[in-house]
Amino acid sequence: MIYFDNAATGGRKPDCVLTAVRAAVRTCANAGRGGHKLALSCLNRVQRCRNALNGYFDGFGFDRVVFTKNCTEALNILLFGVLQRGDHVVTTAMEHNSVLRPLNRLQAARGVSFTVCPLTNGNVTADSVREALRPNTKAVIVTAASNVTGAMPPLKEIRNVLPDGVLFFVDGAQGGGHLPLKMQEIGIDGLALAGHKGLFSIQGSGALLFSNRVNPDPLLFGGTGTTSFSLEMPDFYPEALEAGTLCFPAISALLEGIGYLTENEKRIAARLNELTAYFLSGLSRQPTYAAYSRPNPCGITAFAHRNLPSEQVAERLSTEFDIAVRGGLHCAPKMHEALGSLDDGLVRVSFSHFNSETEIDVLLTALKKF
Ligand code: ALA
Repeated sequence: MIYFDNAATGGRKPDCVLTAVRAAVRTCANAGRGGHKLALSCLNRVQRCRNALNGYFDGFGFDRVVFTKNCTEALNILLFGVLQRGDHVVTTAMEHNSVLRPLNRLQAARGVSFTVCPLTNGNVTADSVREALRPNTKAVIVTAASNVTGAMPPLKEIRNVLPDGVLFFVDGAQGGGHLPLKMQEIGIDGLALAGHKGLFSIQGSGALLFSNRVNPDPLLFGGTGTTSFSLEMPDFYPEALEAGTLCFPAISALLEGIGYLTENEKRIAARLNELTAYFLSGLSRQPTYAAYSRPNPCGITAFAHRNLPSEQVAERLSTEFDIAVRGGLHCAPKMHEALGSLDDGLVRVSFSHFNSETEIDVLLTALKKF
């Protein structure tokens, strides 16, 4: 199968990642639970991965990197851990349900209010964020890249219009590994990441990084391997936010993924810009389709067939041509509302740098037949 669904999960992993997963499953011990050599060796890799994430994303310290099972969990820890009754949040129509649903729940359960900024030409503007601010705005949360179209909000400009006291949270599910999400440089207070997309790890891997201005309360309670005499969660990070056994194979893979990314990031970004440009240029020569994306380093493109619903196109590409893409709404209903594609959705074609122009030609030829 030709795999063009890399925004859902990275389809092909570097060899070093596959080797790490196999080794982690074969020599299994529980990092941080016990002092025997194997447990300590696993713990060492976990801590190295924490350091690697902190370094790569210009974070606020080793202890402010928390492992989660995915980006959604990281976002939930951040939002439920920080927002209190009476707080107001600014978010955008570009967001995934992993942001919108927690905010909706917080509104019902805790009286947290939120404003969804409208988009201009499919993107967020700093002006619209500024206009949405209120005296009780506690945080602004914006995605680094749309999971539907690959559009990238101007994060630095947005940070610059925020008063000092307003926290800035970024959903890095799609931008992580593709964009320079340097927390201290941009002024990001909370960064949620998926390990299994642009960071080349496997499913079960996510992380939350947070600044010194944010002290999230735990979302989960349980064992941490530390302060076991107490029935309270530890009052220090990262343990306060890491109840239960970590997913060591995913973390070990993530360590290798970050190493691979660090060595190849310029080449990967350039290649994804090339592949998205190549596909969009080919698509523009087929009047049956309308594109919703521009070339981008996140590898994401979306388009509509003028007559067929997106899910039908995606299904036929899979069954008749053995090509994997994703149709529908991509868990981002307000983005589709903003784009006018709520009824039929869009076909999303998302690349990795492992894809080739030859594969794209197969897709373009298949699309001519619809
Ligand atoms: N959030 C992932 C996607 O956009 C799963 O496909």
